[in-house]
Amino acid sequence: MCEYCGCQQIATIAELTREHDAVVTLAGLVQRALPREPPQDVATSCGQILAILAPHTLVEEPGLFHEMAQEFPDHIEVLRSEHREIERVLGGASGGFPADPTWPARLGDVLSMLRDHILKEQDGVFPAALAALDSDQWERIEAVRAHLEVTPPALPKPALTSPALTATT
Ligand SMILES: [Fe+2]
Repeated sequence: MCEYCGCQQIATIAELTREHDAVVTLAGLVQRALPREPPQDVATSCGQILAILAPHTLVEEPGLFHEMAQEFPDHIEVLRSEHREIERVLGGASGGFPADPTWPARLGDVLSMLRDHILKEQDGVFPAALAALDSDQWERIEAVRAHLEVTPPALPKPALTSPALTATT
């Protein structure tokens, strides 16, 4: 977590970080719940993660990533492709817990990747953006958030909060 370079003083970065924190919390609940909790609660939590990531990604990709892509094209391309993979696997639960027996393992893998992805953004992209972007670029990124057509959800109460789960975590 980047706490020292000053990037948290930028409203866009602070908001993206709050969303990351909520996603990491939900991802941890899902990873711990996967072997034993009701499948529908796992599916609901996957939907909650996607609901946070939908507007979040719409700020990152056309906003922050767009401004950073010229200087760091390879890094940004990797992050974009990771977004697609995260959406694809989590979206597999959009109709309920998938019957595909390979999906839980793929979900576990993609949630681990999601945590690493968030660290790459927070420890890499955000501090680099603070150093690289000028005030006009930050204003363009803020405008992307201001004009979102997808309303960010209130950060959700996790579906996975059963006493049996929390007692062992
Ligand atoms: Fe992000």
